[in-house]
Amino acid sequence: MMDWTDRHCRYFHRLMSARTLLYTEMVTAPALVRGGARHLLAFDPAEHPVAVQLGGSDPQELAEATRICCDEGYDEVNLNVGCPSDRVQSGTFGAVLMKTPGLVADCVAAMRAASSVEVTVKCRIGVDDQDPREVLPAFLDTVASAGVTRFVVHARKAWLQGLSPKENRDIPPLDYGLVHEMKRAFPGLTICLNGGVLSLDEAQRLLAGGLDGVMIGRAAYHDPAAILLGADEAIFGVPGRKTREEVVDAMKPYIAQHLASGGRLHNVTRHMLGLYAGQPGARAWRRVLSEGATRPGAGLDLLDEALAALPCAA
Ligand SMILES: Cc1cc2nc3c(=O)[nH]c(=O)nc-3n(C[C@H](O)[C@H](O)[C@H](O)COP(=O)(O)O)c2cc1C
Repeated sequence: MMDWTDRHCRYFHRLMSARTLLYTEMVTAPALVRGGARHLLAFDPAEHPVAVQLGGSDPQELAEATRICCDEGYDEVNLNVGCPSDRVQSGTFGAVLMKTPGLVADCVAAMRAASSVEVTVKCRIGVDDQDPREVLPAFLDTVASAGVTRFVVHARKAWLQGLSPKENRDIPPLDYGLVHEMKRAFPGLTICLNGGVLSLDEAQRLLAGGLDGVMIGRAAYHDPAAILLGADEAIFGVPGRKTREEVVDAMKPYIAQHLASGGRLHNVTRHMLGLYAGQPGARAWRRVLSEGATRPGAGLDLLDEALAALPCAA
């Protein structure tokens, strides 16, 4: 998620769940191939398994970008066919590609030929006045014919005109039924659902209903402990669950290294503001961190101060 799932966020999330697959922010192929944005790909080995998401619509450029991502050591390369923003439309990629499945097939074929890891696609159920019941199966069929077998389907349409990217994540209605239908129609494909999932219980219900995976975006960011601390046990059957305090402790060496290399505290702690969401002291934790972390020279002691502001520390 742009501006959210940067490497600091992913490192923090990985401490809460060893098994969930984490995704980068979208990186555009032109920025990687022509713009020298390779530094955006740097990540910590602890983040594995981690998928990089690419945006683009030029098969050769996407192939070159895929090669670069494989060299960096990513575990999966995902093509974005879901982002509705104007900037992305002008570059002819993102959700507008739902209108040209043949081009998406060409893109993923070129990416697969260049890739040492799995190439996957994240898409919508349709855009604008398309009929999702016609468009989505045709899209999956065409793209699967180029060899992609795993899809993440954001279970709502995107409106390319008239809605902001934020509205496009809330206003078009969710259609989980259609995603289930796609799994039944294409049993050989791995179909993961995305959009509006707020809890692990809900994710478990969707998996029990036959889907192969669930991607959780905003809920995992805003309340990471609720989603990630229990995910290994609930979803993957692997016992062992850290406490929030253990996660904070485990972040300290990482943050210390970031500060020592000239980074700012806020770069990392901005992703940690939701750690105590729904818990007593959540507001105090958030306030101490958000007010203090941008001050010049802010250091690790701010984390102790924020912990001390929690009622259980008294
Ligand atoms: C701040 C923000 C940035 C996002 N950036 C991306 C992105 O780079 N690539 C992408 O495929 N989806 C992006 N999304 C969409 C999410 O991946 C997801 O599809 C959407 O939020 C619906 O899932 P959710 O209800 O679990 O959040 C972004 C969402 C948010 C809130």
